[in-house]
Amino acid sequence: MPNYKIAWLPGDGIGVECCEAARMVLDAVEFPAEYLHGDIGWEFWCKEGDALPSRTIDLLRSTDCAFFGAITSKPAPEAQRELAPELQGRGLSYRSPIVRMRQLLDLYVCLRPCKALPGNPLNYREHIDVVVFRENTEGMYIGVEFPRAPEKFFEEPAMARIPRDAAISIRSVTREGSRRIVEAAFEYAMRNGRRKVTAVHKANVLRATCGVFLEAAQEAAARYPRIQFDTANVAAICMWLLKNPRNYDVVVTTNLFGDILSDLCAQLVGGMGFGYSGNIGETYAVFEPTHGSAPKYAGQYKVNPIATILAAKMMMEWLGETRRAIEVEQAVAEVVARGQARTYDMGGGASTLDMARAVCEALRFAHVVAK
Ligand code: IPM
Ligand code: MG
Repeated sequence: MPNYKIAWLPGDGIGVECCEAARMVLDAVEFPAEYLHGDIGWEFWCKEGDALPSRTIDLLRSTDCAFFGAITSKPAPEAQRELAPELQGRGLSYRSPIVRMRQLLDLYVCLRPCKALPGNPLNYREHIDVVVFRENTEGMYIGVEFPRAPEKFFEEPAMARIPRDAAISIRSVTREGSRRIVEAAFEYAMRNGRRKVTAVHKANVLRATCGVFLEAAQEAAARYPRIQFDTANVAAICMWLLKNPRNYDVVVTTNLFGDILSDLCAQLVGGMGFGYSGNIGETYAVFEPTHGSAPKYAGQYKVNPIATILAAKMMMEWLGETRRAIEVEQAVAEVVARGQARTYDMGGGASTLDMARAVCEALRFAHVVAK
C-alpha cells in the first residue's frame, strides 16, 4: 500500500483550524500518508523576510503533493512596517506564497469545481455544477509591476498618451500557456462526461493577450469535436452566470478572470465555505480551500471546513485514491443534505470540528451499512 508524503501547510488564521478538520476526515478514511509540516505565511515574512522560506520549497520538492490552508497577506506599507527591524531597508518585498508556489512548480491548472450540493440552504439555485479552469502561472499575476513606469517604456510610440507617473502592471499571455490550460479543460470535459467548454475573455479590449488565449481555445475546440464550445466576454458571463447558472459546465479562462469568476461561482453554491481548489502541474499539485485566512475568525473554530475537506477529497482523487475520495464526497453530501451539522454561514451553530465530526460519522455509518 502506498504511503504518501504530503507537505502539510496549514498557514495561519482559519487555515489552521480548517486543516485540523480536514485531517480528521483524512484519518477517518485511513488515508495512508505521512504529513510533513511546512513553514509558510505572514509570521515568516515578519521574522525572516520570506513568507515561503527555501526550506519549505525543498519540502515541496521532496513530497508527492502539498495541502495548504490559508495565509494572511497585508498591503505593502504594512508588510514593510511589520518586518523585523534588522530586515528593514534591505529592499525585501512581499509576494503571495501561493502565487509563488504556482509559478515555481509550474502548477498551471487551477481547478475549481463549484457544485450545488443538494439541500444546501445556501445554494443560489439547485443543480448548479460549474467547473472553473483558471490559468495559474501567467496573465496579470506575473509580478512584473512598476509603481512608476520606467523612462525606457516611453520610447515605445504606443506609450505616448500615458502620463509619466503612471503605475504599470504587465499582463503576459503566451500561446503555450493558453494551449495547455484550454487543453486541460477539454480533457477534463471528455473524461468527466461534460458537454460544454466556455472560454472566457475580454478580447474586444485586451486584443493582444485575450486574442492569443481565444485563438488557443478555438484550436483546441477543433481537436475535441464531441464537446460543445462557446466563448463569452468576462463581463457578460458574470451576468449570465447569475441569470442562467445551469447553462454553464466547464469554464476556462486566464488567471485574474479565473480568480474573479471562481469567487462568483463559489457564491452560487454556498459561498467560500464550499469553494475548493487544486493547483495542478504535470507532476506536483497543491490543494487548498479557495478562501483566505479570515483573521477575524481565527482560532474561534467557527468557520465552515467543508471547502478544506473537499480540497482533501480532490487531493486523494489526484493521487488515484478514488474510493476514499468518493466516500468523502458522499459523506459531505449527506451531512449537507441532512443538515446534521451546520456552521454559522449555513444558519446553524455547529463548530468547525462539529462539522468534521459529522462527516466522519457519516463515513463510519456508510461503512457499517456496506458491511
Ligand atoms: C485565490 C486567491 C489568491 C489569488 C490570492 C490569495 C493571491 O484569491 O487563490 O483565488 O488571487 O490567486
Ligand atoms: Mg481568489
